[in-house]
Amino acid sequence: APEAAPRITVLGTGYLGATHAICMAVLGFEVLGVDVDQAKLDRLNAGQVPFFEPGLPELLVKALESGKLRFTSDYAEAGAFGDVHFLCVGTPQQSGSNAADLRYVESAITALAPHLARRALVVGKSTVPVGTAARLTGLLNALAPAGEQVELAWNPEFLREGYAVEDTLRPDRLVFGVRSAWAEERLRTVFEPVIEQGSPVVVTDLNTAELVKVAANSFLATKISYINAMAEVCEVAGADVHQLADALSYDTRIGGRFLRPGLGFGGGCLPKDIRAFAHRAEELGVGQAVAFLHEVDAINRRRRSRTVDLVRELAGGSLEGARIAALGAAFKPNSDDIRDAPALDVARMLQEGGAAVRVYDPEAMGNAQRAYPSLEYAQSTLEAARDADVVVLLTEWTEFREIDPEMLGAVVAQRKVVDGRHALDPAAYRAAGWEYRALGRP
Ligand code: UGA
Repeated sequence: APEAAPRITVLGTGYLGATHAICMAVLGFEVLGVDVDQAKLDRLNAGQVPFFEPGLPELLVKALESGKLRFTSDYAEAGAFGDVHFLCVGTPQQSGSNAADLRYVESAITALAPHLARRALVVGKSTVPVGTAARLTGLLNALAPAGEQVELAWNPEFLREGYAVEDTLRPDRLVFGVRSAWAEERLRTVFEPVIEQGSPVVVTDLNTAELVKVAANSFLATKISYINAMAEVCEVAGADVHQLADALSYDTRIGGRFLRPGLGFGGGCLPKDIRAFAHRAEELGVGQAVAFLHEVDAINRRRRSRTVDLVRELAGGSLEGARIAALGAAFKPNSDDIRDAPALDVARMLQEGGAAVRVYDPEAMGNAQRAYPSLEYAQSTLEAARDADVVVLLTEWTEFREIDPEMLGAVVAQRKVVDGRHALDPAAYRAAGWEYRALGRP
């Protein structure tokens, strides 16, 4: 960290906040992580990351040992400690609405502001509806003893789960939404080690910074639903969406990333972000401009029900009494996150249809069991597959991709597989006598 380095607090120690706090401490800053969940704080202070993220546990231990990082629930301590305060709390979807729930953002600001007695920068990282920062600025200045000396900036976060460390230390870009040269300078100081290794910086206003985040996630979601829409056409036309996507990907203007067809997107971000964005645009009177996001969402949901249909077809036309092995629960591999996980949605729908569903996931078992206790769970791929009538691949973990179709075939009742993620080799499965089906492939 540079000389006279600002001291940093990170409010909210969930996925984003814990990663940010740990990485900032590893870069050499003194960091205080703040949360209201004492159990989470205890784990972090003891060197345990409360979620699965490759590489992060090692960095947490290193940061704690360096003495640069600690965690507290005390906002007064945070206010006295920090020069730059990062706001990293969640903005989930409101229940019964598509809008973002801003209660955690508001309560963090309300808890911190009364303890800001000197010049400080508060930096929002949470994904929020455009206009939120402008509104929160007034609240912050009104509640802080230092008044207008406290400034709000917005620095959206683009990290992917499973690559959180890499994306934090070497992001594709940094976006600084600021209202003054001072705020920009502060942010440049905090991110100096990241900027030095080559990440470009886009400096802009608060509204644009907020929008960059939802525009990026909307684009990514649209790209996935685009190829999945092509899969629907392929299915009825007798074409192969896998080869179609491959052929499209060589056009460098299109590119192959986020063009993998299959079960579609889930997780704590993409689904709720496109809904919140559409909702905000409607509030602003420009709903029509992003009305296509409703279609993106609908295409994505259809992938789940279509996967259930394929399993039903393979099970002989009815799910009643069928034994199904569901491989995967996490919303994507290298994660234990089951928020809006397509895998568990499909497993649940299969069960509702009358099937006996046995689930296995390498990392997300605990989370899945807590959220869906009525599903059956196995301790391994082979245990899940034992006596199954249909195997359905729902999350493309390497361990599922690499399993030998012959070995898997030895334990099932019938060699029938639905490849929900286009992750298995159809030729290898067919050679081993499997009936192989995948969305959008003949
Ligand atoms: C996403 C964005 O990629 C990050 O840039 C962003 O910071 C983050 O949301 C966020 O807003 O916090 P993440 O949710 O971790 O990151 O996961 P992704 O790797 O983007 O995958 C999202 C979903 O899309 C997964 O369910 C994945 O299986 C699916 N997907 C992805 C596809 O179905 N096809 C693809 O080609 C790519």
